[in-house]
Amino acid sequence: MQFKDKHILISGASNGIGRALAEELIGAGAVITNFDIDEPDQGLDGMTTHKVNITDLGDIEDSLNELETPIDVLICNAGVMRRGTLMDSTEDDFELLFDVNVKGSWLLIKSSVPYLNPGAQIAIMASRYSQKPRPDPALYGLTKMAQYHMGLLAKETLHDYDFKFILPGSTNTALARHGVSGLALEQKEKLMHSPKHLASLIMELLTSNHSHLIFNEKSRDYRFE
Ligand SMILES: NC(=O)c1ccc[n+]([C@@H]2O[C@H](COP(=O)([O-])OP(=O)(O)OC[C@H]3O[C@@H](n4cnc5c(N)ncnc54)[C@H](OP(=O)(O)O)[C@@H]3O)[C@@H](O)[C@H]2O)c1
Repeated sequence: MQFKDKHILISGASNGIGRALAEELIGAGAVITNFDIDEPDQGLDGMTTHKVNITDLGDIEDSLNELETPIDVLICNAGVMRRGTLMDSTEDDFELLFDVNVKGSWLLIKSSVPYLNPGAQIAIMASRYSQKPRPDPALYGLTKMAQYHMGLLAKETLHDYDFKFILPGSTNTALARHGVSGLALEQKEKLMHSPKHLASLIMELLTSNHSHLIFNEKSRDYRFE
């Protein structure tokens, strides 16, 4: 895929990976629609933000109705993270994580279908935990597993679209830094990739015949499948 003049809808592009991806895609000529719960701190030429809570069907539908051109690529990126084992986690954690990470991605895909161009791409921002959740962050991993499998099911249902799955490792954003401080954060930051690095790999995935971009725990790098 060439990105020039393509209309790409990204959820959660006000910050982090979504923002870095929007910047790279705009640099390649794309036009970005951002559905985020908050406006970005700094505007970005080429990106239009709609304030959308992806857990709210009405919010999603109202903003989709305002789009002036069909979508060439939908990137289900918005997500939240809470640390903790199953025993540490609260009912509020459970509801927030499943609401945003699973229900939000499902609502976005389901509602966007009538607005997609034929043959459009649908990308799911899953996680390295999607294939094997960890004891901590337990609920986050479970939601990322459910979100990934929801995407695989959507692929089996929506045959006219090109599905892409992104399973990143730790990437230096507010989400990954959440709940870590001091020396532990300093050490973590040495291991994390930058959002820009991940964004360039995602662009490679979107232009390739591969369906998956997966973080490899052992080599601490990415492979395409
Ligand atoms: N960073 C990592 O290490 C990592 C690794 C693997 C996978 N991922 C996945 O990558 C995706 C992006 O994460 P990130 O690290 O870039 O996080 P981020 O920096 O926190 O950015 C996520 C964006 O989504 C927004 N958002 C949160 N809840 C929303 C909602 N209900 N409706 C609309 N927008 C909402 C956030 O707004 P607020 O800032 O106001 O909350 C934020 O702008 C997530 O799905 C995450 O699970 C991240």
